[in-house]
Amino acid sequence: MTWHTLQPRENRWACLGQRPAIAWFTGLSGAGKSSIANAVDRALTAQGRHTMVLDGDNLRLGLNRDLGFSPRDRAENIRRAAETARLMAETGLITIVSLISPFRAERAAARLIAGDIPFLEIFIDTPLAICEARDPKGLYDRARAGKIPDFTGISAPYEAPEAPDLTITTHGCSVADSARALIPALLGLSAPA
Ligand code: ADX
Repeated sequence: MTWHTLQPRENRWACLGQRPAIAWFTGLSGAGKSSIANAVDRALTAQGRHTMVLDGDNLRLGLNRDLGFSPRDRAENIRRAAETARLMAETGLITIVSLISPFRAERAAARLIAGDIPFLEIFIDTPLAICEARDPKGLYDRARAGKIPDFTGISAPYEAPEAPDLTITTHGCSVADSARALIPALLGLSAPA
């Protein structure tokens, strides 16, 4: 099967007045991925950019509702998110993906799926002890008690990126501070040709 020829995507991008990019957030549960994604999203929108956020928790309510947390299901979760991000980026959107995405191989596969769309791997670098102390959803507590199997950082691995495009620390920073470094990068990448 071959991909049908569509009009040049540059036509769509010109209509929007921007070029697309994918910012892929990886980090532990409770690291602050969703909060920072939301702050970056709002800042870009305030500058007139067109954006979308694909958040793991949200995707698991719909597109990925059939998936759990085995390595195989996480790989499929990431593949579907990456394909969705690619489709959104083809329309011209700056697409922010916020998933634990714990495995290096799957993150590399997501970059491949992005093809020639600029792809930034963003490491939300919050140590496990801090995530566990925050425990916004009470999940670490339940995971330590053995009530949630395969919990990332407790009973399932997290492979930190070796060469992320950007590392964002959150400990001791406001969400706005954490978001600040990424906003100019995405404004630059998405500036019209
Ligand atoms: S991923 O590993 O497949 O990328 P994803 O980002 O979609 O994970 O979902 C992670 C969210 O699911 C966490 O923020 C947490 O709210 C919830 N969750 C439920 N069970 C687990 C688990 N076993 N491991 C990690 N997160 C879990």
